[in-house]
Amino acid sequence: KGEGKVKGKDLISIKDLAREEIEEILDRTGEIKKAHRKGNKPLPLKGKFLALLFEKPSLRTRISFEMGMKQLGGDSLYLSPNEVQLSKREAVKDVAKVLSRYVDGIMARVFAHKTIVELAETADVPVINGLSDLLHPCQVLSDLYTILEKRGSLDNLKAAFIGDGNNVANSWIYAAAKLKINLIIATPEGYEPDKDILAEAGDNVKSIHDPEEAVKEAEVIYTDTWTSMGQEEETEKRERIFSPYQVNEDLLKKAEPDCLVMHCLPAHRGKEITDAVMDGPHSVVFDQAENRMHVQKAILALLIGSQGKVTKIQY
Ligand code: CP
Ligand code: NVA
Repeated sequence: KGEGKVKGKDLISIKDLAREEIEEILDRTGEIKKAHRKGNKPLPLKGKFLALLFEKPSLRTRISFEMGMKQLGGDSLYLSPNEVQLSKREAVKDVAKVLSRYVDGIMARVFAHKTIVELAETADVPVINGLSDLLHPCQVLSDLYTILEKRGSLDNLKAAFIGDGNNVANSWIYAAAKLKINLIIATPEGYEPDKDILAEAGDNVKSIHDPEEAVKEAEVIYTDTWTSMGQEEETEKRERIFSPYQVNEDLLKKAEPDCLVMHCLPAHRGKEITDAVMDGPHSVVFDQAENRMHVQKAILALLIGSQGKVTKIQY
C-alpha cells in the first residue's frame, strides 16, 4: 500500500521518522509551548503559507494548524472537500503541482492513504498527513508529548489501546516500535490493526482481544471512536460488536491506579468512553487536544520554518 517517503521534507508516517527526529519534535514542542505560555512570540513562519486540504471534517486538526501558523507568524488557507474535490474535479498530482505554486506547505486529511502518498510524491512543497484511513501521525506525536508532559519520560511506558485497530492505533504501533513502548492493543476479532504494520513491530507490540488483559499494569489507556470517518454505515453493527470494549470505571480498576486515560477526540460519550471516565481525574483528553497545536507548530517550524531546522528557532 506504500508508506510515504519523507524525502527530508514531508510528514506522512511516524515510520519515516528516526527516533531522534521524534525526540526533536517533542523537545521543540516543549520549548514552543513554554514560550507561548510566557507570551514570547517567535516568528519562524513569517511570510509562510500553508494550504489545509480536507476530504473529511475536523475540529482539532484544522484549528490547531490554523492557529499554529498564525502564532508563528504565517497564515493558512482552508480548502473544503467540496471546493477541491480531490481526484474527482482534478487529479491528485495536478492539485499538488498547482498548490505548490501558491503555498509553502500542504496539510491534507484524506480517505485513501495512497492519496497523501501521491500528494507528497508530486508536490514541490512539504506535505503533512493530517489523517488518512491508515494513519494519524500528528495525533500520535501530540499523544507522546502529552504523556511526556504528565509522566516525565516515555521510557518503559506500558500503554493499552482499547477498541478499533484504526488509523490512530496504526500510528501508535509505529511510535511504539520506534520508542520501545510496550503497547497492547485489544480489539474485537476482525478489527485488529493493519497486519503489515503489526508485522513490522517487535515483541513490545501485541494485538489481543481481551480488554481486561490489555489494561493490566497499563499506565496509559487509550481509546478512539468505534466508527471512523467514512464508516458511518457500519455504526450500528460496530456499536454491538464493540460494546465490551468500552473504557469505563470498571475497566480502569484493572489498570495502574494513576493511569492516564487518553482519547484523540471527537469522543462518543456513553459508547467507547463513559462520561465518568472522560470527565474524571485520569483523563487528559483536553491536554491532548491543546498539545496538537504546540506539536503542529514544532512540525511546521521543522518543515517550512524560515530558520531551517527547528533546533535553530531562537526564543
Ligand atoms: N483528533 C482529531 O484529529 O480531531 P479532528 O478530527 O477534530 O481534527
Ligand atoms: N479514527 C478516527 C480519528 C478521528 C480523529 C477517524 O478516522 O475518524
